[in-house]
This record gives sequence, structure tokens and C-alpha cells, in this order.
Amino acid sequence: MIDQFGRQIEYLRISVTDKCNLRCIYCMPLEGLPWLKRAEILTYEEITTIVRTAAGMGLKRVRLTGGEPLVRRDLVDLVEMLSGIDGIQDISLSTNAILFAKEAEALKRAGLDRVNISLDSLQADRVDELVRRPGSYANIMEGLAAAEAVGFHPIKINVVLMRGRNDDEIEAFAELTRERPLHVRFIEIMPTGSNLELSAESFLSCSEALARLRDVDALQPVEGPVGNGPATYYRYPEAVGTIGVITPMSHNFCDDCNRLRLTADGHLRPCLFGAIQTNLRDPLRRGEDIQPLIEETLRIKPERHDLVQGSEVGSGGLVALSQTGG
Ligand code: 5AD
Ligand code: SF4
Repeated sequence: MIDQFGRQIEYLRISVTDKCNLRCIYCMPLEGLPWLKRAEILTYEEITTIVRTAAGMGLKRVRLTGGEPLVRRDLVDLVEMLSGIDGIQDISLSTNAILFAKEAEALKRAGLDRVNISLDSLQADRVDELVRRPGSYANIMEGLAAAEAVGFHPIKINVVLMRGRNDDEIEAFAELTRERPLHVRFIEIMPTGSNLELSAESFLSCSEALARLRDVDALQPVEGPVGNGPATYYRYPEAVGTIGVITPMSHNFCDDCNRLRLTADGHLRPCLFGAIQTNLRDPLRRGEDIQPLIEETLRIKPERHDLVQGSEVGSGGLVALSQTGG
């Protein structure tokens, strides 16, 4: 699968639910969002059919996202169905880790290769405040420990940078990578409909974060762990883990974009932002061939996104990243 700008598309992010058990301040309003109805959401069989079709066209890697993917029942079954598809070489999961500990082994057995965990602070009180669900920190730590114990590799930790809220922990996050094989990725906060004020007032660039880390120790550019999409990676001398930065705001990474997204309600999106999407669900339910629709979506994949700080312009009316799988 190659788009009109010569980019090879081999990675699909699949949102399995728009719901979440947390309410991260930069993502979801406290009261939640108008959730999709059950009948609107793709079944695991439908997701499998779409992935099988795309695998026949060159898709190699999939990631399960949400919302929070583990709030959907029997996610292990989906992992097992996807791991049986010819051509799919890598299955990963983006999770807040709240429910991960008790599923970790079953997920591994079903064929899950690796996990990304969202964690914006290393301080219990602060985590609970940022995710707006008391008691979350302990569960997330259990989830992370389970991921390490079960042997998922690489484990990536996603940290959304927010000035005045977690920027005093940049160094502490980086320190984790010295002794543990963790890949800490700092992400610039992106404006969406529900976080316009926060994303503008607390924006902190990854280059500022890197400058601070260089005051601590040398940062050597490295290739980074498997599955690297938009991140650029560095390593402290002798460290076993790496430090990555994801810079959707300060530095456009669209040139190397290798992905499509599938929303929980079955729309194929060529870009995280913008309004372009193709409804695969209804044609699929009518028994039609979806391959031409996937081809058409590839053809109209935009060259780049154009986010504007403090504005919904460019986000295509997106209220929260949870709606398109982040
Ligand atoms: N800006 C930056 N990152 C975000 N995420 C969710 N919303 C935003 C936003 N507005 C992150 C989550 C998670 C990943 C899937 O996306 O923290 O790590
Ligand atoms: Fe849930 Fe992830 Fe959004 Fe936080 S960022 S509310 S964990 S979907």
C-alpha cells in the first residue's frame, strides 16, 4: 500500500472502543463523551475481516487503541483472531494499564507482542489528579510491573508534556531508562475541542525537554525500539532504555507517516486529524468488497496535518483523541 506521496502504509491503528475508564485532563471531559451505541461499533469478526483484507494489500502491523481498549470485553479474543491472519507480523496495544495486570498473561498467550502505557507522572497524587480517577496510580504501577514480568518487549511509556503539571518530572522519567529496558516517549500536547485552553497554556516543546535532559547527561541519537513511527530516539550513556520525542506541534512528522486508523464505528481515517474518513462498516455489513474503499482512502491520504495552537482549526472538529484512537 503506497499513497500518492510515496509513503508506504503498513500500520493500522484500530480503536476498539471510544469509552475509557479514565478522564485524562487533556483528553476527555469529566462527564465523558456521547458514547457510540453498541450496534454502531464493529464486532471482532468485522475488525478481523478488515484487517485480513488490508493484510492482503500489504498491511503488516496493527495496534489496538481506544478509548481504553481493555474496557471492551474479551479483548484477548480479538488479539487471538488477529494473530492468526497471514501477513500480520506485529500486534501491539496502547493502554492506560488500569486493567492490564490481570490480562497480561492471557494477552501474551493470544499473540500480543508489545504494549505502550500512558503515564504522565511518577507521583501517585499527581497521577490521580491528571486522570481524574482516584486510586489509579496503584493500578497503573501493577499493570506496568505485569508487563515487565510477563516479558513484553519493548515497553513504551507515553508522557504528555504539560508545563506546570509534570514538567518537573522530565528528568525523573528519563532516569527510568538507565536501569530498565523502558522507552519513555515525551509527547507534545495537541489541541482538540475539549482541551483548547489547557493545550495552549501548558504547551511545552520536546526540544525544551531534550535541552533539559542534555544538562543532566549526554543524549546520543539512536535507532529506537521496533515499531517506531513518529518518534525520534536518544539514549543516555550505557542506558538500557531509550528516550523518545513525538513532536506533532513543533516539528511536522507527516512526511514519514506510515499509518491508517480504524475508528470504533468502522471508519477508515487516513489522518489523525481532519475530516476525511471512509465508512467501511456499512458496505461490509451489506456484504460488499471493501478493498476498493481501502484503496480510495489511501489515495486521499493528506500530505500533512496542520494543527494550530489554541484552535480547533486543523483538528477537523475532533473533540478528543479517544474518538479516533490517538
Ligand atoms: N495530545 C497529546 N497526546 C494525547 N494523548 C491523548 N490525547 C492527547 C493530546 N491531546 C495520548 C495519550 C496516549 C496516546 C495514545 O495519546 O496520553 O499516551
Ligand atoms: Fe482514556 Fe487515554 Fe484519553 Fe486518558 S488519554 S482519558 S487513558 S483514552
